[in-house]
Amino acid sequence: MPRLAAELRSVRKMMRRHARLVGAAIVLACGFAAGGPPEQGQIGREKAARLMEDLMFGRVKVGGPLALIDHTGRQRADHEWRGSLLLVYFGYTFCPDVCPTDLLTMAKAIDALGDLGARVQPIFITIDPERDTVTHLAGYVPNFHPRLIGLTGSPADVRAAADGYRVHYARVEDRRFNDYQIDHSAFIYLMNGEGVFLGAFPPGTTAARLASAMRPHAEQLRPAAMLQGP
Ligand code: NI
Repeated sequence: MPRLAAELRSVRKMMRRHARLVGAAIVLACGFAAGGPPEQGQIGREKAARLMEDLMFGRVKVGGPLALIDHTGRQRADHEWRGSLLLVYFGYTFCPDVCPTDLLTMAKAIDALGDLGARVQPIFITIDPERDTVTHLAGYVPNFHPRLIGLTGSPADVRAAADGYRVHYARVEDRRFNDYQIDHSAFIYLMNGEGVFLGAFPPGTTAARLASAMRPHAEQLRPAAMLQGP
């Protein structure tokens, strides 16, 4: 069917464009089917660029409280992980390529640290809570790392968490497939044992690079018991 073939070509073209964007710091990661009005897209991109600059130039505090539900259905809060390095990623399970690639990079980097890897807690926070339910996350996160925690919650709670990390995301309707994608910035965030932001890694960062950035922090880490005192 020529129409389907044309659509596939267009999707492939978008994916290639997407792959090029990976090299740039900002990635409208999974919205390969831009369907919204162009003005809206423009505003979205400007906002995304502003958020990225805030992040890159250290203009704002990054991080903040998380109050979300994990992939086993438990309510979780960020203070539970004090004393561990946190590797935090915002994305969604229907993302065709960038999110899974980055989650795999996180997992490989943690494994590359050997025993020190136990000091790093990887966290995946969905920005698509509508589709990424507890059950759905439970089937997804173990594919990447046995200790990866998937977090979801109400749209408002997810938005609050994302705002703290200066994450841009916006739903993009895809009328052709009666479906939607989500444009989102895709950084891997490293937080220290006290929940303070250390840095963010753009898409395309290798596992080796991420591991070597984490290693000195993991080595210096003070165990949670010491942070809390006797
Ligand atoms: Ni994605």
